[in-house]
Amino acid sequence: MLFRKTSHLIGLDIGSRSFKASEIVETKSGHSLQNFGMTDIAYGAIEEGVIKDADEVAASIRKLFNENSFKTQNVAVSIGGSSVIVKKISVQTMMEEQLQEAINSEAEQYIPFDISEVNLDYQILGEAENNPDQMDVLLVAAKKDLIDSYVNLIQMAGFNPCVIDIDAFALQNIFELNYAPEDETIALIDIGASKISLNILKGNSSVFIRDVALGCGLINGKIVSLVDCSYEEAEHIKYSNQPDKISPDDVKEIISSVIDDWRNEIRNAIDFFYSTYPDNDQIKRIMLSGGGAHIKEFRELLAVETSSEVEIINPFKNIKIDKKSFDISYLERIASQAAISMGLSIRKIDDK
Ligand SMILES: Nc1ncnc2c1ncn2[C@@H]1O[C@H](COP(=O)(O)OP(=O)(O)OP(=O)(O)O)[C@@H](O)[C@H]1O
Ligand SMILES: [Mg+2]
Repeated sequence: MLFRKTSHLIGLDIGSRSFKASEIVETKSGHSLQNFGMTDIAYGAIEEGVIKDADEVAASIRKLFNENSFKTQNVAVSIGGSSVIVKKISVQTMMEEQLQEAINSEAEQYIPFDISEVNLDYQILGEAENNPDQMDVLLVAAKKDLIDSYVNLIQMAGFNPCVIDIDAFALQNIFELNYAPEDETIALIDIGASKISLNILKGNSSVFIRDVALGCGLINGKIVSLVDCSYEEAEHIKYSNQPDKISPDDVKEIISSVIDDWRNEIRNAIDFFYSTYPDNDQIKRIMLSGGGAHIKEFRELLAVETSSEVEIINPFKNIKIDKKSFDISYLERIASQAAISMGLSIRKIDDK
């Protein structure tokens, strides 16, 4: 057999701009990083989590896996965006078996799609705070065609899809492993290329999740519409101190206006959370992940706007890393973007 029989998985985060793959093994002394790789994907091949060019994406996955010596073919991936609904609901208190039967009709009112088009999952959270006859349930619904497209993609790439997770939960898992949160209210916010995902946690439970179709790609889009250039060139212009086709002030202004949109959407989501769940405490800490976490101006403005401490997540914090096998400064640079794949790689083969 080519691959040793293992229960661990490769955590593969299929972003719209870049793929990240992590392999972690759990030993008696803790989690240890075996492999990490990241590669860009052609513009347009994935848009807001929807696979538009499966051949291109499968080829990129194969390339990423060939460049790194992963020890298993078993993969955990995650989905997110508008085809996934995660919501805390309250239902009449009942046994788990009864809920299994009732979940479709309970869920119907919260899901903007036909119930036959989605896969439903749920987790009983416990007694509802203000009504002892009811219980809180975390409802997860994902469109079947989206799930199928990810399963097919991994198979097309020649690997074995074992776990389909939700982006926000993968992030939550790696946060919990590294930061062991107590009972405080914390927001995890991922700023990717095409979406912002917000997950508000109370201790180890998710209480509010929202995805917004904004991200770092908007900066590139605005550069493209101002200068006659490709998205790839816009990516270089964005990082250059001396861009030749556009003034540094114009780039700064574009970045500031995009950051304003992010802040507004985050502010709206947090305000909605406070008004819907008035019993919750103030969000004391915001942990940022994704490429957008690198933008210092954004972190500083967000801290002022939300009166919260804002920091960049470090998914490698409690993970053993052999300094001889990894470029530590590289891992530090891309840490915020590695978070979801790291969260996926700590799932196990027999997880749901
Ligand atoms: N230092 C930086 N400053 C500004 N933007 C950055 C920086 N580093 C990365 N980015 C931007 O972050 C984006 C990539 O982030 P990330 O890898 O989180 O996205 P993704 O996971 O591919 O996208 P999504 O999750 O939205 O599908 C790119 O648009 C890139 O330009
Ligand atoms: Mg992402």
